[in-house]
Amino acid sequence: MLEKLIELEKCALQELESVENLDSLEKFRVTYLGKKGMVLSAMKALRELPAQERPKAGQLANQIKDQLLKRFEEKRESLGSKNSRAPAFLDVTLSGREPARGRFHPITQVLEEICHIFERMGFRIVKGPNVELDYYNFEALNIPKDHPARDMQDTFYISDNVVLRTQTSPMQVRVMENQPPPVSIISPGKVYRRDSDVSHTPMFHQVEGLLVDKGITLGDLKGTLTAFVHQMFGRDTGLRFRPSFFPFTEPSAEVDIQCVICLGKGCRTCSNTGWLEILGSGMVDPEVYRFVGYDSEIYSGFAFGLGIERIAMLKYGIDDIQHFFKNDMRFLRQF
Ligand code: DAH
Repeated sequence: MLEKLIELEKCALQELESVENLDSLEKFRVTYLGKKGMVLSAMKALRELPAQERPKAGQLANQIKDQLLKRFEEKRESLGSKNSRAPAFLDVTLSGREPARGRFHPITQVLEEICHIFERMGFRIVKGPNVELDYYNFEALNIPKDHPARDMQDTFYISDNVVLRTQTSPMQVRVMENQPPPVSIISPGKVYRRDSDVSHTPMFHQVEGLLVDKGITLGDLKGTLTAFVHQMFGRDTGLRFRPSFFPFTEPSAEVDIQCVICLGKGCRTCSNTGWLEILGSGMVDPEVYRFVGYDSEIYSGFAFGLGIERIAMLKYGIDDIQHFFKNDMRFLRQF
């Protein structure tokens, strides 16, 4: 009986050796290792043996079965890897798949462009907190608690004295508080207002600018902002300074550029005026200097604040501000 088992193993191994594809491997499995295969039949036959021979023969039969199973698995693996993983012919001249490349969000791109323009003019970039004290967001900018200007900005209050900043202007105060003049900074970042429609989102971006030194005039303000508009929208873009009011500047002006859609003729985007408002500005109000301890008899300066989404919409002709924050790749891929 033992010789028969050894002979069976020899045959099986020989046959396995000559197997060259998965089909003949399957045939091998059925013949030797299947339910009605030769190994199990041989094991059943062991029952016929006399009791004292059975353990030894049983042990051998089990060893043989394990050995065959192991070799069978090895063969299956080697055939499998040959068939599925390694192609018969590798074309090394095929061009590769282009990796999906990331890019910056259009708001980030426009924000960086604006910052670069002012950096080239010598402004330093500073960043400030989004959660801001009422004092910096309003009080020290000459907007006391009962001031009607607070109504223009629907504010998210964290507590009585803490808000989500509604503008980047508080950075004017924070910077002046920390250093003597001269100052020339821009401060980009997020701001928040309870507002949502085609031209408003509860979170949006602004860039604040501030320049204070001896002898700064409205002419410097006009020159700086004109240089900015020409670099941002092109040399031929007309602009105008329109008198306005902000509590922290006196006098104040809003800057309009010639409508980039109709080039000043009048269209839907500019409400037929030919002009588009892009920023607020003015000469820093002496009252603000009082809060930070600057001498308004010696120093003067200008400030401005511009909305990034608005500028990005004008630059790219986007009609709904909500597009920026929907994370629709079809929109974002265009920039
Ligand atoms: N902070 C103003 C706003 O959000 C914009 C602004 C106007 C900023 C005039 C200024 C400025 O620095 O001088 O509406």
